[in-house]
Parts: sequence; structure tokens; C-alpha cells
Amino acid sequence: MTTTVLDLQRFKEEGQRFAMLTCYDYPTAQVLDEAGIPVVLVGDTLGIFVLGYETTLPVTMDEVVHHTRAVRRGLTKALLVADLPFGAYQASLADGVANAVRLVKEGGAAVVKLEGAEVELVSTLTSKGVPVMAHLGLTPQSFHELGGNRVQARTEKAVLGLLADARRLEEAGACAVVLEAVPSEAARRVTEALSIPTIGIGAGPHCDGQVLVSTEMFGLSSGHQPRFVKRYADLRSEMAAAAKAFAEDVASGGYPDAEHSYDWEIRPTE
Ligand code: KIV
Repeated sequence: MTTTVLDLQRFKEEGQRFAMLTCYDYPTAQVLDEAGIPVVLVGDTLGIFVLGYETTLPVTMDEVVHHTRAVRRGLTKALLVADLPFGAYQASLADGVANAVRLVKEGGAAVVKLEGAEVELVSTLTSKGVPVMAHLGLTPQSFHELGGNRVQARTEKAVLGLLADARRLEEAGACAVVLEAVPSEAARRVTEALSIPTIGIGAGPHCDGQVLVSTEMFGLSSGHQPRFVKRYADLRSEMAAAAKAFAEDVASGGYPDAEHSYDWEIRPTE
């Protein structure tokens, strides 16, 4: 069954926990769709996990649109969410609206996601028919301001600030709020206070939904991995083993064999 933005609300009301995974390309989109993942996010982590940047800050609108289009073509059922990258809405409200419209019109996204308590932008977009997913807690586009990627909302004052921002975003019309890297208790309080779903990443078990970066959870990424990431596969080792086996077969003459060759007889010239 196709997931729509209204289903997110229904999931919350029915207490149905749901999964969201990031995705950046066509074949992975097909896999996630076939696996029944209801919500797929073209996150700006695209920059780190696909394009090899150190942070999400260099990611451009053109890059997100390009990858969103590829993912769109691979999905038949999942709800497609795409991130507004850094720079797409910081300069003006008009920029934010124009870039969100691009993600829907050119990328084929059903929902746009944006970081921070951008209440005016969320309210403008939702009033114009563009569903918005908010993102609070650790907001990696504020990497420099936050002094790195650190757990947020660790004091009572900060939790109250998080709660206030989440409520304002809900009132502005956000369809869901991603909570990244906050203590479980902070996420529980926000989740109980809101009537829209929260989607946690490093936010403990109380959120309505959970999101992970697919590259990390498939075991394809390298380097440091945050504590909350659970690897459900080890595709990096499997891919390396397959590449080595191919190279060995080529060196030994084991590939291509008759089964993988066109051994038709050559016809005499007509
Ligand atoms: O960009 C992204 O992948 C995200 C998730 C980590 C939620 O925002």
C-alpha cells in the first residue's frame, strides 16, 4: 500500500511504530520499497555517504534534486521525503519556498525536511500545500555553531527549549519531527507532548518512528560510527569479497567461462 503524508498521523494515532531509511540511488530505492519501508529520506547525508564530503554543509540543491529524482524512479509505495540542504533556506523565506518547490516539482518529493525551528518557513510551505518534516536536536547543518556533532538537550532548560520548538513547529503545520541525538527521556517528553509523530535517530525507544542512515545500517560505511547505529548487514565485506573473487577469476582465467560467453558459431558472410 502506498504511504501518504496522512498515514504518518494515522501511525501516531494508532500507536504503530514505523521505519524511515535514508536512500540516495535507484537500486537501493527499489530494495527499500520492496522491503516495505514506508518512508524513504533523501537526506543531505548524501554529501557524506555518497559524495565523500566531510560534513553535510557543501551539499547543493542540484545534488539533492539529482538524487531525489533517481530515488523517485525506484519507489512505488514509500513516501518520499527530501532534505533542504544548507544554504537552501538560510538567506530568505523566498529562497526556502522556491527550493522546497524545486524538490517537489523537479525531484518528485512528497515531503521536504528542514533543520531547526524555522517556524515561518514551515507555516508558509504548509499553507501552500508543501508538507514539511521538521528536524530538531542535533542539526548537523549547524555543525560549526554546535561545536561538532554532540548530543543535545542534556539540561532541563534545553529540554524545555526543545519542547517549545517542537510545539511551535507542530502548530506551524509540520507533519512530523525528526529528533536527532537527544537523551531518551527528552525524546519521550516531546513525543508525548505532540500529536504529530516524532522520528528518532539516536533519540531512544520512545519516538513514534525510527530513522537510520541506510549506508551505516547496511554496513557499507567506513570510519567512526555513532553509538546509536545498529549494523543489520555487512555489505562492505561482502562487496570486497566479491570484487576480490572477480579479480582472482580474471587472473586465473576462470572468468569468463563457457556459461558466461557467447559461444555462437560465426556465420559465413551473407
Ligand atoms: O540527512 C539525513 O540523513 C538526516 C537523517 C540523519 C535523519 O537528516
